[in-house]
Order: sequence, then structure tokens, then C-alpha cells
Amino acid sequence: MQNNKDLPPSELIFDLIKGQIVLNAISTVINLKISDYLKDGPKSVMHLAEKTNTHPNSLYRLLRMLSTVGIFTKVKATQEEVKYDEIEFGLTPLASLLQSNEKNMFKNFSLILGRQSFKRAIDDLQYVIQTGENSFKHINNLNIFDYLQQNPVDAKIFNEAMTAMTSSQVSSISKLYDFSQFNTVVDIGGGQGLFLSTILKDNPNLTGIVFDLPHAIEGANQQKQQISHEKLRSDVINNSILPRCKFISGNFFKSIPSGADGYIIKNVLLNWDDESASTILKNCLQAMNFSKSYQKDNKQQKIKPKVIIVDMIMSEKNEMSFGNLLDIVMLVLTQNGRIRTKKEFTNLLDTCGFQITNIWDLSSRSSSPSDPMNFLSIVEAIPKSIDD
Ligand SMILES: C[S@@+](CC[C@H](N)C(=O)[O-])C[C@H]1O[C@@H](n2cnc3c(N)ncnc32)[C@H](O)[C@@H]1O
Repeated sequence: MQNNKDLPPSELIFDLIKGQIVLNAISTVINLKISDYLKDGPKSVMHLAEKTNTHPNSLYRLLRMLSTVGIFTKVKATQEEVKYDEIEFGLTPLASLLQSNEKNMFKNFSLILGRQSFKRAIDDLQYVIQTGENSFKHINNLNIFDYLQQNPVDAKIFNEAMTAMTSSQVSSISKLYDFSQFNTVVDIGGGQGLFLSTILKDNPNLTGIVFDLPHAIEGANQQKQQISHEKLRSDVINNSILPRCKFISGNFFKSIPSGADGYIIKNVLLNWDDESASTILKNCLQAMNFSKSYQKDNKQQKIKPKVIIVDMIMSEKNEMSFGNLLDIVMLVLTQNGRIRTKKEFTNLLDTCGFQITNIWDLSSRSSSPSDPMNFLSIVEAIPKSIDD
């Protein structure tokens, strides 16, 4: 993402401010499924208002604004004699991304950020800046993950957004990082299990565990029954991924399943302050120590257990990046969750007893700022001391 420094300040500030209104408008048209109704060609405002049971003039004004930012085309030009409700709107490539069957993280992120619980928290940024407390809790009376446990509709949209993000990242990560070195991996906070299923598909000798909160595991189990990830559908059946994949519910602040040699923590540490992130990492270390003694007892030849953190690393450059935006989202939604710099990651891992063995910066491999890989890094670390 590049600031357009050539724009005069008044235009630049206008460009920045309009984002909130446009986001709100986008999540409204996604909820109304407007793009779905346009898939066979342009439709009039009246037709769309009837289909979506909405107020025609208000809908017209919404679509008119969105057509000015490249979402929808206004097919019949406004002429004096054409009534607003006869004006037709059609799809653009951007609007096509908002169709219900589209799997892309930007649609799902617009949806979750458009939910009242999230939107009101984001609007309340000033509260965070004044108090240092997160506004999600201030508005919703619960920390985000407790809230999601109790609000299944928001939880479903949140988990789908995470899965959509993972879906656009996982095959590149699986190609880049050699998961075949492990016998068993645990995906800590693994959500609906898409990341692990893809790794298992690519590595036929690997077994794995998706570990997450009870509501997320319940959702993952429902997904498993429906086998709704189209891409994986035949693979799941043909390659027998399911028998190699366990779903375990629990709380990573209490304990993490042992018995594995690879511990994946993807897009989790950014949700937590240093103290909480340390607890997760120390529980991981404890699971590794236990795994190691278990392996010794069973006289199996295994590699030293590793933790593989897939997360965003804050750029040290003073430039607009997805990391800068997401850091503000973390400020608002979580209690001191943050996008960490490389140095902060190194210190965090060091104080928890880990030593970094390698870092892959995936942003250097992508050409576009909106590429979902653009904001990820893989940090591989091993315990500094573990009983050999
Ligand atoms: C930001 S999501 C990331 C999901 C997934 N790893 C991904 O990359 O798409 C964070 C995950 O952590 C899980 N989580 C939050 N608190 C947890 C806890 N105390 N114990 C286990 N999982 C937890 C959430 O349910 C959620 O699935």
C-alpha cells in the first residue's frame, strides 16, 4: 500500500476518511447479496429492491455511491426522463468478488468488520487511545474470544474470515516450508482446520491435531461433516485426510496437546499481549518436553520438536502496510494484541526458552500489497534446552 504523496492534502485526507463509509456500504451490499442478483446481467434498482426487500430510493443512493468507487457500473446513464428506480446497475470485477460463492478474504473481512460488535468497537478508537483498554470489551462487555463463544452468528462469520484468509495463504506456505520432516503436528488455535488439512494433503505420512476452543472445534466438526471446502472435497475422500486428523478442544492458556514434533501457531500470537503470548509459548514448550520424553520411552527416532509461527511481522520502514492497519485493529479488538517487529518476536521467544532457527519473509516473494502472502512471515524456533 502506497500513500499517494502527489495528491494535495485536502484530497488525501478525503481519500483516507471515506474508507469507513465505503466499508459500511460494502458490507451492506454483501449482506443484501446484491452481487448475486447481478450475475446474469445488469438489473434495475426496482428489481433489486424487490429481490432484497429494501427501500428503492435508499438502495439507489447506496449503489450510486458504490459505482463511483468502481464497485458496480451504472448501466443506464441518469437522464432527466429516466426514473431512479429504472436505472440499472451491473457487476464490475470488484463487485464479482462480493458474490456469496466467492472465497476471498477481503469479502469475509468486510463482513466481520461490518458486524455491529466489531464496527462499534472500531468506531470507539478514541476510548482505546485515552484509556489503553480495548474498545471491543468496552462495547460488548466481553473479551473478543469469550464474546465469540457466546455469539454463534458472529463466530461463524469470524471463523469463515479466518478460513478465507488461510485458504489464500496455505498452499504457498505448504510449498515453502517442509512439513514432511515431522511425524505429527499440532495446529494451535487452528480454527476450522483448513491449514492442517492442506498440510496433511501435501504430506501423506503426516498426522495432525487441530487444537482450538470448544465452539471453534464444534464448528470445525460441522464443517468436517459437510466437507464444505470444495477444493479439498475430493482430496479429503481420496487421500484419507480425515483419519490422520484429530480435532481437540481446549484452552491454550491451560495446556497444549503433547505427542507432536511440530507445533504450528498461525495468526494467533498477534491477538495477545506479551504476557499471554508467553503463556502460550511456555505451554507449547511444556508439551514439547513431554513429547520428547514420550518419544524416548517409545524409542522412536524423531527430530527435535520445533515451533512454527506463521504471523505478520511489522515492517521497520515508515510506510503504509497491512501490518500497520491490522495493528490498529488489534489495538481495538484485543487487550494489547499487536503486530510485532522482528526484534520483539526474537525477545519474546528468547524469554520463553526458544531460539529462532530461521525466518522466511513471505512479503519479499509477493508483488502486490493486497496479496494475502504479502503480510506473512514464518518464524521457526527450537527449544533452547530440551532433554536429549
Ligand atoms: C485469529 S484466529 C486464527 C485462526 C487460524 N490459526 C488461522 O490462521 O486462520 C485465532 C484462533 O485462536 C483461537 N483461540 C482463541 N483463544 C483460544 C484459547 N484460549 N485456546 C485455544 N484456542 C484459542 C480462536 O478460536 C481462533 O480460532
